[in-house]
Amino acid sequence: MSDFNFFSPITEEMKVVEEQLSRSIKGNIAMLNEASSHLIKAGGKRLRPAFALLSARLFSEDLEDVIPIAVALELIHMASLVHDDVIDNSDTRRGKATVKSAWGNRVSIYAGDYILARSLSMAARYQRSDIVDVLAEASMRICEGEVIQMLSCYNVTLGLKNYLRRIERKTALLISVSCQLGAMVMNASPEAVKAIKNYGYFLGMAFQVTDDILDIIADEQILGKPTGSDIRQGVITLPALYALKNSPQCEELAKLLASPEACAHHTDRIIDIINDSDGIDYAYFITRHYARKAQEQLRYLPEVPVKKNLFNMADFILARDF
Ligand code: IPE
Ligand code: IPE
Ligand code: MG
Ligand code: MG
Repeated sequence: MSDFNFFSPITEEMKVVEEQLSRSIKGNIAMLNEASSHLIKAGGKRLRPAFALLSARLFSEDLEDVIPIAVALELIHMASLVHDDVIDNSDTRRGKATVKSAWGNRVSIYAGDYILARSLSMAARYQRSDIVDVLAEASMRICEGEVIQMLSCYNVTLGLKNYLRRIERKTALLISVSCQLGAMVMNASPEAVKAIKNYGYFLGMAFQVTDDILDIIADEQILGKPTGSDIRQGVITLPALYALKNSPQCEELAKLLASPEACAHHTDRIIDIINDSDGIDYAYFITRHYARKAQEQLRYLPEVPVKKNLFNMADFILARDF
């Protein structure tokens, strides 16, 4: 599995996406261009455009029409990251300084808006209101997810339902929509669009649970962004939720997680308690559950070679360490 090249059927198209991404931000104001293109240059996994292209490949060999929406999806994602790093007060992203740390909060807000607006103009090229609708809805959901997360911080009484609701909105839906739009641009049947959209949804859930695990256990150098960030901010993710219920130290943990001061200054103790419970294993168990559900959806889709890539993407998402 480790030698499998997930992007092999779309290598050429991904190069075009890359070129268009770097060309996408060119306005009249140097500082805005520099801040906006900073994150593009920093790299990243480019998963959302890849999902759009791989999904479209289920229905057509010629992927030219998918390029603008693939670019728009990565731009929406990046706009949310630029703002997220302000909110999370993060100094690194994709192994580089964040826009926030290099230019400050004010420029980050403008740059995020600028990138978002650019993505809308890419999507408008299709002159299809169904496409713009899906994209606009996804952007609204991301914002809702972030707000639910903010309102849920330090609240140890909230459970799994609240957690699933916020990760669905802040992450899973954009991945779902990436798959959906790839199929929609190719005018796939409503049944096929639904199956690939569900595939993206389940994979998106697995993806964010993995992100939350990595926040606790990853190597910061490999991850390219700060670890322990969720706990420092009182964001209670799945491994912590498990430990709150099942750890012998659950009372101490609840006290620590409910206190902004303890979250900020006793992060290591909190991480130790979570690691001593089976919280990480449990969260991995949940990611496997979602990955299998994603793979099951593929049964409703055309039997073409790219299906194997989509199938294996589910395994990649679980096994990743960045
Ligand atoms: C980071 O997404 C934000 C989340 C939704 C977890 P990615 O892990 O896809 O970030 P990049 O694009 O590779 O930097
Ligand atoms: C971010 O979630 C989701 C967004 C929509 C930006 P996180 O806050 O967990 O993302 P990272 O870990 O900073 O990438
Ligand atoms: Mg963050
Ligand atoms: Mg995270």
